[in-house]
Amino acid sequence: MTDNYRVVVLLSGSGTTLQAILDRQEQYCYQVVGVLSNRPDAHGLERASKAGVDTCSLDHKRFSSRESFDLELVKRIDEFKPDLVVLAGYMRILSRAFVKHYQGKLINIHPSLLPRHKGLNTYQSALDAGDKEHGTSVHYVTEELDSGSVVMQATLDITDVDTAKTLEQRVKVMEHHLYPKAIDWIASGRITIQNDAISLDKKPLGPQGYRISEKSIATAN
Ligand code: GAR
Repeated sequence: MTDNYRVVVLLSGSGTTLQAILDRQEQYCYQVVGVLSNRPDAHGLERASKAGVDTCSLDHKRFSSRESFDLELVKRIDEFKPDLVVLAGYMRILSRAFVKHYQGKLINIHPSLLPRHKGLNTYQSALDAGDKEHGTSVHYVTEELDSGSVVMQATLDITDVDTAKTLEQRVKVMEHHLYPKAIDWIASGRITIQNDAISLDKKPLGPQGYRISEKSIATAN
């Protein structure tokens, strides 16, 4: 258990996920020490400033290659001395060197039940595939997009009246509960990763990680 577990968040957009992480940090055992964005106009940067967290915006369009941008990003992130780097709606593909540098300390949340529906438009993809359930996954980041060991998943049952919009709304509510909890469990040492295998309280978890349903989240909130 670390008293002052340092979390750096990377984002590209509105930052509702960051807000949930910030809102829970008093009750959980991590501290957000820095927020970085590849988009200078990302609303998430304002959320961070309002919470008194240092920010850094690094416009990827001003770099000639993904590699040179990521190299500078690593430099800026490491100034915050993070224990964990958290992707929260960070919509850029990462270079191999970046992923390698943060191996075992880099997590992401992706709005699908991985390995289903990697990439964009996961809500519509789930509907088009006739899936009965959808959800979101917290996973360690590896070189392959939306891959890597799954730490936790939150699931919901898709109903006949669901649209991509309603699914997105329902998933986001679950994400705002799930991601802070996942960070807390990693920070407190409850979740560990060894040779790509995830354990909770030293007990190995399956490929879907720790699973929680929309109903139990509603009760917990
Ligand atoms: C979240 O729903 C997250 O799962 C998704 O971006 C959203 C960010 O929302 N991430 C991905 O799709 C990554 N592949 P926010 O900007 O409101 O925090």
